[in-house]
Amino acid sequence: MGVLITLENVGKTYYSGSVPHEVLKGVNLTIDEGEMVVILGPSGSGKSTLLNMLGGLDSATSGQITFGEKTVTNLTDRQLSAFRAIDVGIIFQFYNLIPTLTAEENVGLMSELGIDIMDPIEALRLVGLDGKKNNFPSQMSGGQQQRVAIARAIAKKPRLLLCDEPTGALDTETGKEVLKLLCAQCREDKRTVVMVTHNTLFADIADKVIYVKDGTVSRIVTNDYPKEADELNW
Ligand SMILES: Nc1ncnc2c1ncn2[C@@H]1O[C@H](COP(=O)(O)OP(=O)(O)OP(=O)(O)O)[C@@H](O)[C@H]1O
Ligand SMILES: [Mg+2]
Repeated sequence: MGVLITLENVGKTYYSGSVPHEVLKGVNLTIDEGEMVVILGPSGSGKSTLLNMLGGLDSATSGQITFGEKTVTNLTDRQLSAFRAIDVGIIFQFYNLIPTLTAEENVGLMSELGIDIMDPIEALRLVGLDGKKNNFPSQMSGGQQQRVAIARAIAKKPRLLLCDEPTGALDTETGKEVLKLLCAQCREDKRTVVMVTHNTLFADIADKVIYVKDGTVSRIVTNDYPKEADELNW
């Protein structure tokens, strides 16, 4: 399949006062359509910054990012919000559900913003939670809340699914279930999935592993025979 995302010499610098802090430097990489990508690296190395940049949640200070036919780094703020809303689904470590809305309402939120999404009940069914549609986040386990977050992210059928430590807050068994769901998004639904994790075992399920170190991509490894989530020995 063709290339979906290209980063060319991408850098990100934050300033504390006038002191520059170069968080990413000279990043070059490509992500293919339908690829399963895992990003690994020490805490503070720049993984989340890189992930956010792929989905237009954060802007590059230098370099160029293209997504399909769009040059993300040239988009206006308005175009960037439309890009994020339509093309990018995001799953975080701590679910980020709205506590006063039910599972169904959390998943249906995007349609309130005028985004074309699948029926929220259908999205909940895909993650095995249609039976919990009327539950509030506080009435669900961590794993169930994360599955609602996945349903919310996939309901809009995004071309890109970004996950920042999606299993970080979950126990092993629940983490496996969530990982299986995310893998199915890639392997069955042919969606491009990029996942940041501290779990080095996840390298085995990826088509491509991007190692980040001190703000640079230190190594990119491609797997010709990625494993299924079930085959990992946790
Ligand atoms: N908004 C910001 N302003 C200033 N510095 C930031 C900002 N966001 C991130 N940083 C800095 O950028 C560096 C990389 O942060 P990032 O969150 O990308 O790391 P990470 O690899 O995801 O770490 P972790 O594994 O702990 O989540 C860190 O030194 C962090 O302090
Ligand atoms: Mg992070």
